[in-house]
Amino acid sequence: MTKLKILVIEGTARPKRRSIHAAKLIEKIGKDIEGIEITLVCPEDFNLPFDGNDDENKDPKYTKLTADADAFFIVTPEYNHGYPGTLKRLLDSELKNYIHKPVAFAGVSDGLWGGVRAIEGLVDCVREMGMVATFTDVQFPRIQDLFDEKGNLLDEKYIKRIERTYTELIWMAKALKHGRENFESKYHEPK
Ligand SMILES: Cc1cc2nc3c(=O)[nH]c(=O)nc-3n(C[C@H](O)[C@H](O)[C@H](O)COP(=O)(O)O)c2cc1C
Repeated sequence: MTKLKILVIEGTARPKRRSIHAAKLIEKIGKDIEGIEITLVCPEDFNLPFDGNDDENKDPKYTKLTADADAFFIVTPEYNHGYPGTLKRLLDSELKNYIHKPVAFAGVSDGLWGGVRAIEGLVDCVREMGMVATFTDVQFPRIQDLFDEKGNLLDEKYIKRIERTYTELIWMAKALKHGRENFESKYHEPK
């Protein structure tokens, strides 16, 4: 059977970002789950200097990744009670490649709230884009206490939390892939 393709999207290009530790952990755990293929995506790997979704301002590499993806696991830090503009840029660029696909979130902060305000903002945004958000997410509050400087996890409880979110995301990914392939919609061709 073809593997489900899941993009783990790191939501910031901040050079000293700590959320990358969470993204890499989510990538690593995903790589041990059967039946899925994980690709970690970082915003700085794409050429997206302008806003919007005009064809000439897309990065073809990102277009292809999102077109092929069956699901997204977005890791967002909280910046001023919202999510980073860089992440919004990635989301804005590819409307049709997100429609009828699921998304799970991990929120990251150095304060106590674990990025929940960023996640809540994203739920509104992805709904407008035709995505389906899982009801499980992962919060990494006080990220500085959860990973050491090298990115080693200091709290093993996160492994189960991430696996639980993958379980839900994979269920949604299978259901929506079946839907995209079998039910007519003006947004995609049935196969
Ligand atoms: C511009 C900016 C705004 C921030 N605003 C918040 C905030 O509103 N709430 C919060 O808990 N942490 C906030 N932080 C701290 C981040 O949560 C912290 O940097 C954390 O490590 C996750 O982001 P990172 O991946 O950039 O490291 C902010 C950080 C930056 C750079």
